[in-house]
Amino acid sequence: MKKILLVGAAGTIGRAVAENLGARHQILNAGRSSADHRVDLTSDRSVAALLDAVGPLDAIVSTAGGLHLGPLAEMSAEQFNAGLQAKLLGQVRLALLGQRFLNDGGSITLTASVDSIEPIRQGVNAATVGAALEAFALAAAIELPRGLRINVVSPTLLTESVASFGALFPGVETVSAERVARAYQRSVEGAQTGRVYRVM
Ligand SMILES: NC(=O)c1ccc[n+]([C@@H]2O[C@H](COP(=O)([O-])OP(=O)(O)OC[C@H]3O[C@@H](n4cnc5c(N)ncnc54)[C@H](OP(=O)(O)O)[C@@H]3O)[C@@H](O)[C@H]2O)c1
Repeated sequence: MKKILLVGAAGTIGRAVAENLGARHQILNAGRSSADHRVDLTSDRSVAALLDAVGPLDAIVSTAGGLHLGPLAEMSAEQFNAGLQAKLLGQVRLALLGQRFLNDGGSITLTASVDSIEPIRQGVNAATVGAALEAFALAAAIELPRGLRINVVSPTLLTESVASFGALFPGVETVSAERVARAYQRSVEGAQTGRVYRVM
């Protein structure tokens, strides 16, 4: 049984990941406003306090992060920066600080989105952030010591999220949260590192 910190546990993907991994492991649920452990990934202090409180850990999983969705023609640098700070740097911060709280052989799993290779309208910020997260994991994997691993899960639109985002994904086949959760299981329980698990 692994001790797993799950940030974003109350979200659509987070709930499915908690159900999958929770069947075999101890899950520490974390989120900004609605979880057992409160954390704001945009704050060094908040992430460090959480890790101090819950570590040492066998796995860190993030299904958290906000983005800017909007038309390129109207996008400001400030709007673009919102996604950089929240979803990109937030998850990178969790990985950078979290590596020191992982037991030997532990793992980090971050969340991107498949629109970094299958772009959608209004998705420039999401695509950029996802591609950067993939590159971060690819490069971090060769430097992590002690058998630590890092992977990214990159899902397409979830069936459960069609009501919110379906209009941005015309004709795209959706995937169930349960199927997406199995990619996180693969990352946490498997042996691979530096991989992107695309679920589409
Ligand atoms: N749903 C999809 O179809 C889909 C497809 C591809 C990729 N993704 C990506 O997967 C991730 C999760 O998606 P989702 O649909 O599960 O989102 P969601 O339902 O909105 O859940 C996001 C979770 O992240 C937490 N969170 C957000 N910002 C945070 C911060 N700064 N610090 C700590 N926790 C924070 C939220 O906590 P609170 O609720 O407490 O605020 C919430 O629990 C997102 O990055 C999204 O881009 C989603």
